[in-house]
Amino acid sequence: MTDQTSPGTEHWQERFGAAMMRTLATPLAMLVRGEGCYVWDENGRKYLDFLAGIAVNSLGHAHPDLVAAVTEQVGRIAHVSNYFSSPPQLELAERLKRITGAGDAGRVYFCNSGAEANEAAFKLARLNTAGGKRTRILSLHESFHGRTMGALALSGKPAMRRAFLPVPGGVEHIHTTIEALEEAIDDSVAALFLEPVKGEAGVIDLPAGFLRRARELCTRHGVLLIIDEVQTGAGRTGAWFAFQHDGITPDAITIAKGIGGGLPIGALVTYGATSELFSRGQHGSTYGGNPLVTATSNAVLGVIERDGLVANAARRGEQLREIVARFASPRITEVRGRGLLIGIGLAEPVALPLAAAALAEGLIVNAANESTIRLAPPLIVGDTELADFEYRFGLALASL
Ligand SMILES: Cc1ncc(COP(=O)(O)O)c(C=O)c1O
Repeated sequence: MTDQTSPGTEHWQERFGAAMMRTLATPLAMLVRGEGCYVWDENGRKYLDFLAGIAVNSLGHAHPDLVAAVTEQVGRIAHVSNYFSSPPQLELAERLKRITGAGDAGRVYFCNSGAEANEAAFKLARLNTAGGKRTRILSLHESFHGRTMGALALSGKPAMRRAFLPVPGGVEHIHTTIEALEEAIDDSVAALFLEPVKGEAGVIDLPAGFLRRARELCTRHGVLLIIDEVQTGAGRTGAWFAFQHDGITPDAITIAKGIGGGLPIGALVTYGATSELFSRGQHGSTYGGNPLVTATSNAVLGVIERDGLVANAARRGEQLREIVARFASPRITEVRGRGLLIGIGLAEPVALPLAAAALAEGLIVNAANESTIRLAPPLIVGDTELADFEYRFGLALASL
C-alpha cells in the first residue's frame, strides 16, 4: 500500500488555510487511508473510527465489495445523464421501494446529498396545496435538514439562517411535544418535516408516542408526513429506517449518507398517492442516480442485507450502551439515540475537550453539541472494535 504522504502533506494546515473556503474549521488530521473501522493519518498514526464520516461509511473503509462495485462500474459506464437510464439505477430504485416499505405505489427521486433530498421534499410539500388552501410547512425547533436555502428554511436553528435571509418562506418551527403538534396541525398545513432522532442537535430522541401522534394528525388533516432519515437511515438505528421502529408509514422520506458508503447520493422516496405529486420537468439533477453511485449503493445495501448488519447495529448498539454504563463516570449523565447512533450526554459542557482527548488516544468521535459525544461507528463494528473503544474512550475520560 502506498501512502499518499508526499509530496506536500507537510504543512497541510497552512495549505488548507490558504486554499479552502473559510466555511470550515481547520481539520483535526490529514487522513490518507482506511481499512475496516480504522483510518490512518499522514504520519502513519492509526485511529479507531467511531464517527464513520458522520454516519456515512456504513461498511467501514475500503470494504472489498465497495471497492469491487466502484471499480467494476466505473470501468463499465459511470454516467449517462437523465436522458438515459441504467440497470443499477432501476435496481436501486426497486431495492429502496422494498426496504423502505414504499411498495408498489412508491417512487424514488435520486440526487446527491441529504440537503438536496430535502430540497426535493420541500418542493414536494409545495405541491400539496389542496387548491391553494395549504400554505404552511411545519418543522421542529433544533432540527437540521442541510445547508442549502430550502433545507436551511426547514432547519430549526435560526443562527444558521441569520446571515442568509431571506430563505424560502412558509416554514414554521414548533416545539417537539405532542401538545405543540396538536396545536399546529390543521387543514392549512401542507407538510410536517421531522428527524426520528435529531442527530445534529445532539442525538435527541423524539418523545414517546410523538411519531404515532404525528401520523394520526397528518392523516386526519391531509398533511404530508416527511421523515428525514438522512442520518438515521440505512440500518444505523437497528432498523432499515428509524420510523420503522414505530410501525408507522410516512408519506415521504429523505435519505443519503449511509446508503452511499462514501459516494455522494441522496434520495427522496414517496409512498402511496404522494408518489403522484411530481410531474415531468418539475425537478432534476445532472448526477442524480447515475450508474456509478447507484451501483455503489446497491453494493452497500446488498452487503448490509447479506451480512445482517441491521441486526448487528441493534446488537452492537446495546453492547456500546453497556460499555458506556460500565465506565460509571460521574461525567456521563445519559445515553440517547438508537442502535449505532448514540449520544453520550455529559454533565458539563466538555464534549469538545473530550473528543480532542479521544483523538489523542487514537479514537475518532465527535462533539454533537457542547455536552454530547456522538458515536456513529461503521455498521460492521465487532467485538475487537468495541473492546478497543472501551479502552481508548476510558483513557480519554480519565485524562479530562
Ligand atoms: C438529518 C439530516 N438531514 C440532512 C443533512 C444534510 O445532509 P448533507 O450534508 O448530505 O447535505 C444532514 C447532515 O448531517 C442530516 O443529519
